Amino acid sequence: MRSHEAGAVHARAGDRGPTWLRTPEDPNELVSHLWASSVSKVDGVLTVAGESAIDLAEEFGTPTYVVDEDDFRRRARAFKEAFPAADVYYAGKAFLCVATARWVADEGLSLDVCTGGELAVALKAEFPAARIGMHGNNKSVAELRRALEVGVGRIIIDSVEEIARLRELTAELGVTASVLIRVTVGVEAHTHEYISTSHEDQKFGFSIAGGDALDAVRRVLAEPGLELRGLHSHIGSQIFVTDGFDVAARRILGVHAEVEKVFGVVLPELDLGGGFGIAYTTQDDPSTPADLASGMLKIVNDECAALGVRVPHLSIEPGRAIAGPSTFTLYEVGTTKSVSLDGGVFRRYVSVDGGMSDNIRPALYGADYSCTLASRTSDAPAVLSRVVGKHCESGDIVVKDEFLPDDVAAGDLLAVPGTGAYCRSLASNYNHVPRAAVVAVREGEARVIVRRETEDDLLALDIG
Ligand code: LLP
Repeated sequence: MRSHEAGAVHARAGDRGPTWLRTPEDPNELVSHLWASSVSKVDGVLTVAGESAIDLAEEFGTPTYVVDEDDFRRRARAFKEAFPAADVYYAGKAFLCVATARWVADEGLSLDVCTGGELAVALKAEFPAARIGMHGNNKSVAELRRALEVGVGRIIIDSVEEIARLRELTAELGVTASVLIRVTVGVEAHTHEYISTSHEDQKFGFSIAGGDALDAVRRVLAEPGLELRGLHSHIGSQIFVTDGFDVAARRILGVHAEVEKVFGVVLPELDLGGGFGIAYTTQDDPSTPADLASGMLKIVNDECAALGVRVPHLSIEPGRAIAGPSTFTLYEVGTTKSVSLDGGVFRRYVSVDGGMSDNIRPALYGADYSCTLASRTSDAPAVLSRVVGKHCESGDIVVKDEFLPDDVAAGDLLAVPGTGAYCRSLASNYNHVPRAAVVAVREGEARVIVRRETEDDLLALDIG
């Protein structure tokens, strides 16, 4: 067992936080690259696309996820422009609602869904079905049937059972299913174990090492109702070093070439997945889509040349890199506390009105975030603080280490950047806390795109 975050780990005298955390000269200042492009401070108040955090909190309450719509769209477009010859599938698991599905459609991207629920949202948004890819390691017959009935463009096969399910469904419905096969390339991506997906000992895909990938290809090619478009590889999430992509691309292209040699079939497509990291704090240094594109396309072109195969039509699946930086979460401070540690050192705890129900990532992955005082400027000195939520758990941490002005107090607003991906989509009702609203801001106009849950919503499910 690891020691609990609230226990021995930080009970060190003179603790000034992790080594990467710099002591700011002015704790009011924004580290601008962590925020959506239209966010700035105007007279000390956080402002997004012309809307002040104070007005947003007044109108919509807190906690609220605030999305800079143009920033989201711009990041989607940047991937499209960086990979002009590829299909860019926005990974809806990062954050999908009707509005974001429409933005993605408008910007010309395709959409990756991984459950029937995500597919339902896409269909409600009238997302063109032919531009939807269906993922999932345990797709049910009902989910596959719906996908085929509405005409999703492709299904990414993850198991032998799925091949049999698709055989029966395509025969029953009289359709052909375009499919890709998810391949485990055996790469250890340098990310948290829970979000690393292509080392051997995990649930996704067919492994190259065990020969399962080629066996899956053989099985799919034998099915008249299935049209094999290509192979798929996704090595994990929040990845910065391109070495992982490099090895993965080489390995999957090796299988791609082997399919041609063994079965005489030229696969027209190849999907390299998503996983591109973003900056949550100053310790993260992400690549731009343009840099990713030049690196990845060079690897693919060189490897295809070396293997003597035609370069397949590529697709990628970024989620976090589009949604993540577009959004901050706005909280109101409720209580503060100084807790005495060893050696006369104190830790300041600042409690906000949300927590692990709106952002489980610190508790689940040990993820680091940053934050700023959003409602005013302060002349008080910066003190190392821990921002925590209102849930009944000591591990309910929102921002583990941040320098905040010493006078932060009840009623102040705090904003946490980088919460657009895997926060609302992973939100829960723990402690019967209603899930927070999502508000989109564009050109000085703010509108709710996912409304706040109410206690009535919670009680409506509880039928006694
Ligand atoms: N494609 C596939 C097949 C995936 O499984 C994923 C993410 C993506 C694309 C998008 O990855 P992205 O570009 O967003 O990193 N809840 C975790 C992340 C789980 C990712 C699951 N799959 C977190 O909060 O970090």
